[in-house]
Amino acid sequence: MYLKSRILVAASLATLLLSCAGVQQVTQTVTITESITSPGGVNTITFTLSEGMPSYRVDRDGEVVILPSRLGYLFKYQPPLDRDLRVVEVSRDTVNETWTQVWGEEKEILDNHVGMSILLEDASPTPRRLEVQFRAYDDGIAFRYILHGDGQPKHVEIMDEVTEFQLAGDHSAWWIPAYAWNRYEYLLTNSPVSELDTVHTPLTMETADGLFLSFHEAALTDFASMTLAHTGENLLKADLVPWSDGVKVRGELPMKSPWRTIQIGESAGDLVTSYLILNCNEPNKIEDTSWIEPGKYVGIWWGMHIRTMSWNSGDIHGATTENTKRYIDFASAHGFKGVLVEGWNLGWDGDWSANADSFSFTQPYPDYDFVGLAKYAREKGTRLIAHNETSIGILNYEQQMENAFKLYESLGINTIKSGYVGHGREIKRRDPLTGKVLGLEWHHGQWMVNHYRHVVETAAKYHLMLDVHEPIKDTGIRRTWPNMMSREGARGQEFNAWSTGGNPPDHYTILPFTRLLAGPFDYTPGVFDLTFKNNHEPPFRVNTTLAKQLANYVVIYSPLHMAADLVENYEGKPEFKFIEDVPTDWEKTLVLNGVIGDYTTFVRKDRNSDDWYLGSVTDENGRTLTVSLDFLEPGKSYLAEIYADATDADWVTNPYATDLSQETVTSETVMELQLAPGGGQAIRFSPAD
Ligand code: NOJ
Repeated sequence: MYLKSRILVAASLATLLLSCAGVQQVTQTVTITESITSPGGVNTITFTLSEGMPSYRVDRDGEVVILPSRLGYLFKYQPPLDRDLRVVEVSRDTVNETWTQVWGEEKEILDNHVGMSILLEDASPTPRRLEVQFRAYDDGIAFRYILHGDGQPKHVEIMDEVTEFQLAGDHSAWWIPAYAWNRYEYLLTNSPVSELDTVHTPLTMETADGLFLSFHEAALTDFASMTLAHTGENLLKADLVPWSDGVKVRGELPMKSPWRTIQIGESAGDLVTSYLILNCNEPNKIEDTSWIEPGKYVGIWWGMHIRTMSWNSGDIHGATTENTKRYIDFASAHGFKGVLVEGWNLGWDGDWSANADSFSFTQPYPDYDFVGLAKYAREKGTRLIAHNETSIGILNYEQQMENAFKLYESLGINTIKSGYVGHGREIKRRDPLTGKVLGLEWHHGQWMVNHYRHVVETAAKYHLMLDVHEPIKDTGIRRTWPNMMSREGARGQEFNAWSTGGNPPDHYTILPFTRLLAGPFDYTPGVFDLTFKNNHEPPFRVNTTLAKQLANYVVIYSPLHMAADLVENYEGKPEFKFIEDVPTDWEKTLVLNGVIGDYTTFVRKDRNSDDWYLGSVTDENGRTLTVSLDFLEPGKSYLAEIYADATDADWVTNPYATDLSQETVTSETVMELQLAPGGGQAIRFSPAD
């Protein structure tokens, strides 16, 4: 369906032309209102132009979600495009199609929305045009801006985005601060919106009426990322992360903003099974995707974090030929697709986080036979994963990237784990020719957004998948670039190795409804030696039971999941079978229950078999959750392999106590999941006949 209505503005009595000191101002004095409602009649977006000022509002089932909120942009060299505008054209369309993910948490994605485009222009002699495109889905809404270029100077500098989100109440929010030194690596705080300052997205909220909202953006491309500033009563405003000179976005017209998205659900789980962010991204650009393979990996990694191995050369250097062979042999024996080796390349000696410019991405330490090990891994049916820590030395990385990626491909390496360790606003933007520092940038400004994308596209050229740490947040570009597999961008397992307090038990009950709404997270679960001993003071530990480590493979979605512990800690452990079995590519995902910060239970169906997997996690409180297995195929019997906290398990006093059992179940079975304080449960269901 395609419907276009032309609003005849110029000849209308509604238009008032003012001429003031040679500047023509056009104001549409009547209020123009245009709206669309999602296909199921659930969410309505209403656009209004009143006194020349554009705004939108959102209602769900007749209840207001977003009160009238402003739209538009402010520029460096041109007048604003948020006032004195008139509507030139309105068009609508409906999309109802299903597309298939190359890999993912859900195989088939339904894109069913009603769209509306509003073309606005100002009163310049050659009018400047701003288009706002809206989409109403049953699971939320989205809108983006297009700055048209016809007849305009090409270069444009955006100084501010006017977009507001005027909430209907002081909702309960889960948030992390923006503009903080440790990027996205903060525990989530739960507070009323009135206590927010400026926060990152996704920003999750629960309203007093029990509605769940998530504010985020989709398809962040050649633009600054959006944070949300609390600027008034229940009012949030788009806050674009600036360049070092204060400009928010620079570029050439025509220019598209990312989609501003609000996912809306009746339960926390509805946010998880909403694929609105992916639907707002462009389709896959990689023609042959046969080389893109989700899977699990082990690696020389945890040892560095618990300080029994080092990245740098010396007595406890982790990346030695001998140690790596041991990991390759283990991966090969247990079916892991990858072996990550950190500290293999020259540049780690001294303070590596300050060594930005001395990292080589091709030259190994002398005790690491890079070429021989890559070959050995291939012979053993696995592959090395190349580690590229940049320490935010962007120019150094970009200068070596093509050669390094070419080398990796020639050695049969198909995955890179990259890293951008460095504090907020310290990234040196250098002149590529002279090396002169031109500015200090944030990880999340437009310049770095473009760097991260450049790496994704270059990696695709060399058939390399990416797992990015200290990344730009996920906005669903994995749909367009399905080699962009996983990323960090939150507090991962490593915090349990060296941070005071580590990740508290409720972390895992919050992540699925906040950070994970953006996309896959390389959390690196699977530490079995929870109370590891080393010389690193104060004593650190992992704040979960063993069963919860297993449950996290299902609850936390990542197409690349690590078995993070030292491989010797898996030997002889029957619980390890779950890690061997659990897939990382799913046909279906369901959230059986979830109270943010308390508990949640996920089930996912394997994309390559009829198996289902369940993961259930709780906070510091033990509890029993009752779940119906009605997701299983009716009339079929399944063998349930259960990895449960023992009745006396407790993350503090008895974290290892796990009961392994088997049961035959059907879709009619109702199970009681016993979760210990700080615990969890993992189950594999496979057809019994
Ligand atoms: C931080 C990353 O999150 C971690 O996984 C990695 O080991 C270190 N940086 C070193 O690159």
